[in-house]
Amino acid sequence: MRNSLKIFTGGSNPELAKKICKHAGIKLGKCETVKFSNENLKVRILESVRGKDVYVVQSSCPPVNENIMELLIMIDAIKHAKADSITAVLPYYPYVRSDKKDEPRISITARLIADLLETAGADRVMTMNLHSPQIAGFFRIPVDHLLAGKLLCDYYKKKGVENCVVVAPDAGSAKRAGVYAITLGLPLAILDKRRNDDSEKAKIHNVIGEVKGMRALIFDDEIATGGSILEVVKALESLGVREIEAACVHAVLSGTAVERLGKSALAKLVVTDTVTIPPEKRIPKMVILSVAELFAKAIVCSNRGSSISGLFGKI
Ligand code: R5P
Repeated sequence: MRNSLKIFTGGSNPELAKKICKHAGIKLGKCETVKFSNENLKVRILESVRGKDVYVVQSSCPPVNENIMELLIMIDAIKHAKADSITAVLPYYPYVRSDKKDEPRISITARLIADLLETAGADRVMTMNLHSPQIAGFFRIPVDHLLAGKLLCDYYKKKGVENCVVVAPDAGSAKRAGVYAITLGLPLAILDKRRNDDSEKAKIHNVIGEVKGMRALIFDDEIATGGSILEVVKALESLGVREIEAACVHAVLSGTAVERLGKSALAKLVVTDTVTIPPEKRIPKMVILSVAELFAKAIVCSNRGSSISGLFGKI
């Protein structure tokens, strides 16, 4: 017999957690976090979790480091309250871009996060559009890696994609962009973007494929400073593209990203709600699609022990 299901949320993205619960047809579990004057956190789970399958939703939103700590403390508290299983639900995985040792004497912090989650007591992890899918291999516990590409493509299929070309912002994303192009039945163009240092500034050197007079659709896993997208927008403008739209799963939108995107030639930015987007960051050219239903279905399936792979596509 399956255990009953409980969903709790940390402070990072309660709106998404509430929507997930609504789709799953259950009430959000009650818990409270107190922050003391010395910045220590205390989490109290306010209802019994004994023998339950517990899902804890916490995304990588500001304050990122405090939210990681809150999640670890929540998992520990739930473990000691005798839950049967604990799944850390991370719609946007923390430190996802620190996934390799590409310089001497640096940390592969995405791996460190995996170790911390396991040490705290997570039995499973559920996450979405990892910067590199190999991150799932950082864990010894099972990882459900959900993908939001189908959601983005369904949006564009509904809106129409006449005279469009899918543009891969860099060589690393070409494979993924190719899947978007196939899914939407569109041609593909690839930009040669390079980043030379830690300044978060990227430069476009070349373009492979036809873009002139077309509507360009840029797909990326995340938009942080907006630097990558804005470079692509500039490059595409100079190549005579008719209109430019971007679709990114994780709307990190750090620093002055929103202001710069607002002023740019980008006609539309389609994102999801894996990361909390405060009202001041919601600009008219932004469309926010919710991943809540997908997470809810995945949680319900995982709790029932049924397959989740049919819920999403390959991107
Ligand atoms: C890079 O490899 C990623 O796919 C994104 O293009 C990047 O993380 C976006 O960051 P930013 O908006 O700061 O350029």
